[in-house]
Amino acid sequence: MGMFFNLQLNSLEDLLLVELNDLYSAEQQLCDALPEMMEAATSPLLKAAFKSHLQETQRQKSRLEQIFVDLGKPAKNITCQAMKGLIAEGSEIISAEGSDEVRDAALIGAAQRVEHYEIAGYGTARTFANQLGYDNVVRLLQMTLEEEAQTDKKLTQLAEENVNVHASQKFGSSS
Ligand SMILES: [Fe+2]
Repeated sequence: MGMFFNLQLNSLEDLLLVELNDLYSAEQQLCDALPEMMEAATSPLLKAAFKSHLQETQRQKSRLEQIFVDLGKPAKNITCQAMKGLIAEGSEIISAEGSDEVRDAALIGAAQRVEHYEIAGYGTARTFANQLGYDNVVRLLQMTLEEEAQTDKKLTQLAEENVNVHASQKFGSSS
């Protein structure tokens, strides 16, 4: 949730807008952070996954802009504090010393935390929009929700089949 001054929650519509602004800030922050994560990844498969998710994230951000237009409510300039924290944790991994393989495994963990935050936010916003009968908004939010779930799945697969395997083969134990 972002930092709103005088947060007004008098209606479900107010709450939907709070959720949408939170997600918009989250996507914006992620667009700025993903190039660094891509740079930091060693596995070519992980680099490629971050690259394609960056392009997807840019589209998701535009989709939210479309929603604000549909609703006739301009986006607010707020900061999603949760995403800020998740990205800060990702930065700690990027600047960590140690093995490339283990850092890749850690980057996947950080990226999946981001996806889960977004999945929770989009699911909640979609449900509110549905309640309010905003069918087009529901459709757009559902699209993004499915993409985020797909990304999460892809990252799990990449970890299980590739990155974690390399990390454990070379550095299974630190003792
Ligand atoms: Fe996203």
